[in-house]
Amino acid sequence: MSEILRVEHLTKYFTKKGIFGKTSDTIRATDDVSFGLNQGEVLVLAGESGSGKSTIAKLILKSIESDSGKIFFENQEITNNKENLKKIRMNAQMIQQDPYDSINPRMRVGDIISEPLEIHNAGSKESRKKRVLEVLREVKLEPADEIIKKYPHMLSGGQRQRVVLARALSIKPKIILADEPVSMLDVSIRAEMLELMQHLQKKYNISFIYITHDLATALHFGQRIAILYMGQIVEMGPIKTVLENPLHPYTQALIDAISEPDPENRHKMRKIRIKETNSENVYEGCRFRTRCPYVLDKCKNEPKLKNMSNNQHVACFVDIKSASLN
Ligand SMILES: Nc1ncnc2c1ncn2[C@@H]1O[C@H](COP(=O)(O)OP(=O)(O)O)[C@@H](O)[C@H]1O
Ligand SMILES: [Mg+2]
Repeated sequence: MSEILRVEHLTKYFTKKGIFGKTSDTIRATDDVSFGLNQGEVLVLAGESGSGKSTIAKLILKSIESDSGKIFFENQEITNNKENLKKIRMNAQMIQQDPYDSINPRMRVGDIISEPLEIHNAGSKESRKKRVLEVLREVKLEPADEIIKKYPHMLSGGQRQRVVLARALSIKPKIILADEPVSMLDVSIRAEMLELMQHLQKKYNISFIYITHDLATALHFGQRIAILYMGQIVEMGPIKTVLENPLHPYTQALIDAISEPDPENRHKMRKIRIKETNSENVYEGCRFRTRCPYVLDKCKNEPKLKNMSNNQHVACFVDIKSASLN
């Protein structure tokens, strides 16, 4: 199994200025994050809003600059020279949550989809047009020769997201980063869109980073999962193992939040939900400790991600299977 992408110690902090411009808070959006993506694999990045999922995707595509850390594509480091940037941008495409973030409402569908081909000067005008029609059929937007003339506002939300998918596919990328690709769609059409993505991922063996906070679709689509909490990976491993047998209290809380209420677990769930993150010293020690029902004294130190067994990695001092709540 060969690795197509690898990030090492990726770090990005943001500074949030106070309303009077005097005080400032540092937000550790991505903090020492390392992982690999195998050829043809679907890796899920999950975690609640603000955990740093989108920042990781933007750092990989170099649409924002990291503070430190390295990115490797096909074992070659992607530095900031022009050639390298072109390489990653030709081979990795993003699908964003809001179609209007990636498509220009004043452009016709045909031009939107052929834009990546034009940016990278791929093929002749004729071959680009052929590719646009072909990819529209792939995403099941037909009749393709009529759809190309339309403007985004003439389409439904689901059709617009198919245009975004077609745009991402047009240049035949090896990697797709899909950032909550269906969360803005009507619930009734989400499954259909996910199935289409999954079908195309398999058909072309595209390596996928699927960003979501929806663990049910994650399990359906992904092979491996990384759980993010405040800019760090707290648990990572084969998706079935992690979701059936979580070893981090935060993973457990995410799963509890979507599970049927179980009287035995109610107390545990409530405790995790109510404890608010205390912003003071939040980056010292384990970041989850102020919300954790199992917190121990040693959680004042920072737990490192460790391989527990079968490639399930967890950053936690507590053995939650035998631990008692406190
Ligand atoms: N451009 C930015 N400027 C300041 N803070 C940002 C910026 N982008 C993201 N953040 C902050 O970084 C953290 C992670 O954000 P993000 O990666 O968007 O999380 P997610 O995608 O998991 O919701 C959040 O606290 C967010 O407010
Ligand atoms: Mg996001």
